[in-house]
Amino acid sequence: MKTMIVYSSRTGNTETIARAIHQEMPRAELFPVEEAPSPEGFDLLVLGFWVDKGTADVAAREYLQRVGTTPTALFATLGAYPDSNHARESMERASEFLSGAPLVGSFVCQGAVDSKLQNWMESLPPDHPHGPTEERLKRWRDASTHPDGKDCEAARVWARGLIREERS
Ligand SMILES: Cc1cc2nc3c(=O)[nH]c(=O)nc-3n(C[C@H](O)[C@H](O)[C@H](O)COP(=O)(O)O)c2cc1C
Repeated sequence: MKTMIVYSSRTGNTETIARAIHQEMPRAELFPVEEAPSPEGFDLLVLGFWVDKGTADVAAREYLQRVGTTPTALFATLGAYPDSNHARESMERASEFLSGAPLVGSFVCQGAVDSKLQNWMESLPPDHPHGPTEERLKRWRDASTHPDGKDCEAARVWARGLIREERS
């Protein structure tokens, strides 16, 4: 099975997950999105993005629009909890950028939020829509240690499942 793993990562969280997946698929080609060729001719594309305002970041979105018909599995890191509606909706919105390719799987985990964004939000008044509520501050604290070893292991397990499905 000819597989390509492509990731878009600003601060390294999504790259960490991409590299964990690559350990499970060592023969797959691994590229940062800026250097990734077209997935045409590959049996499977595994594409990772970071969540930006409730959808895939712009570089991943642009790549998704060029995917064509190659079966695609998506993974993402985000500040929100992976079992939240926000995580589910962000993945759904991202998958809408795949026009002709079947979505064959998805994986999401938390990723530490850039301290610059945190500092900016903490400077806003608490009643501002993006202000530092207790809930948001807790979520960021929880996110700050991710992705961790368990996330990487979960990503490897997910990748194993993709390989099995592709073979069956
Ligand atoms: C500009 C910006 C926008 C973000 N928007 C969201 C968002 O809408 N929802 C969310 O859960 N996390 C959001 N995050 C958090 C990132 O998705 C998260 O920290 C991710 O793990 C970063 O991945 P990276 O290290 O691969 O760049 C945002 C971060 C930044 C810097």
